Amino acid sequence: MDCVQQCKIRPILVSVRQALTVILLTSVAIPHLLLQDRISSPEFFTLIYQLIMADGKVYIFDTTLRDGEQVPGCKLNTKEKIELALALESLGVDIIEAGFPISSPGDFESVNQIARVMKETTVCGLTRAVQKDIEVAAEALKPARRPRIHTGIGTSDYHIKAKFNSTREEIIERAVQAVKWAKNFVDDVEFYAEDAGRTDNDYLARVIEAVIKAGATVVNIPDTTGYCLPHQYGEKIAYLINNVPNIDKAIISCHCHNDLGLATANSISGVLNGARQIECTINGLGERAGNTSLEEVVMILRQHANLGYYTDVNTRQLNPLSRLVSDTMRMPVQANKAIVGSNAFSHSSGIHQDGFLKDSQTYEIIAPEEVGADGSKIVLTARSGRSALAHRFQKIGYQYTRNDIDVLYANFLQIADTKKEVEDTDLHAMAKAYEATAVAN
Ligand code: KIV
Ligand code: ZN
Repeated sequence: MDCVQQCKIRPILVSVRQALTVILLTSVAIPHLLLQDRISSPEFFTLIYQLIMADGKVYIFDTTLRDGEQVPGCKLNTKEKIELALALESLGVDIIEAGFPISSPGDFESVNQIARVMKETTVCGLTRAVQKDIEVAAEALKPARRPRIHTGIGTSDYHIKAKFNSTREEIIERAVQAVKWAKNFVDDVEFYAEDAGRTDNDYLARVIEAVIKAGATVVNIPDTTGYCLPHQYGEKIAYLINNVPNIDKAIISCHCHNDLGLATANSISGVLNGARQIECTINGLGERAGNTSLEEVVMILRQHANLGYYTDVNTRQLNPLSRLVSDTMRMPVQANKAIVGSNAFSHSSGIHQDGFLKDSQTYEIIAPEEVGADGSKIVLTARSGRSALAHRFQKIGYQYTRNDIDVLYANFLQIADTKKEVEDTDLHAMAKAYEATAVAN
């Protein structure tokens, strides 16, 4: 179901949920908050909103092909973009932001071609709050089964004064006009309040109310500069829920940048406070320090299923797609990157290796196959212990006793101190030397 359909059937869902809400509120939530004397707290209103609105589905809006492609050196041609879009659709993302059509003829072509080949996925094109941008995006999106225009404008005082030399009132007017103009072409219009992270909440609430009234189906609250702390970003979302009277007519979206390494935490905090869409990229690619990493938010919601949220992403495709994006964009993934880094399932210290070999769950919270990784790895370094050494010897065909391993271990440490990692070829050489001395004795 896309966001427009969601908005259309929402009244029916709301009626059903309202009945459930009354039961839940009167029997559980209100007595609980009453007991704690928190009946007028923001948590109370957030709770009511969540009970009425949420079915637990979090929409995944992938912007690898737009914000991700803004990374210097990551520019993609149309063929590469189509290949990645098809892989993203097969991964199960709900929305693909395919590009910024007015920015170049090449990007127009990419958005247009992607719009032709997507079957179920919503295809989105970015615009500024400028009529021409919107018209060009609408043209590029024409063949799409589910088109969405993503339009918006800066709302923080930094943007209003430095970028636009304008006033708050004028910015609201421009925002409303942009959404109304986009509505002439598509039903599904997402509005972004650029730099919402540093926008005064009161003013932001006024902007959001106005654009929803103008027809926005999704309202995007970007922490454009990656400035917010998780509790601040969450409070911003809660503030909108509590202070925008028509907020139930749109889905709230998180778009967080990673300048302080908080993009993932902020997006999750947004969801916990009522947002239902996360904008993210494969491998966390994006402007400057990047965006929220798709694989991280998807796995957080899956690992913490008790929170009651889910996505439609097929997690087994996460590692293969991470490699495809990395190869296509010529952008290596850091080894210690969560979920998709080459060390994400590697164990190197003796204490960890011993625990892992006894029961993988002692040091792994995700099974590698669940995210399509190659498998767990026991890496031999000077910090490794005897059980890891025995395990690796066994893996390459040597069955040694405890005594054998004691002797071999001393030898192993000498080699390990001279190298970063002891490889299978070193183990074969050690085994050969050990067996030769055993025969000689
Ligand atoms: O970071 C940002 O604010 C953006 C908007 C264009 C959505 O990328
Ligand atoms: Zn961005």
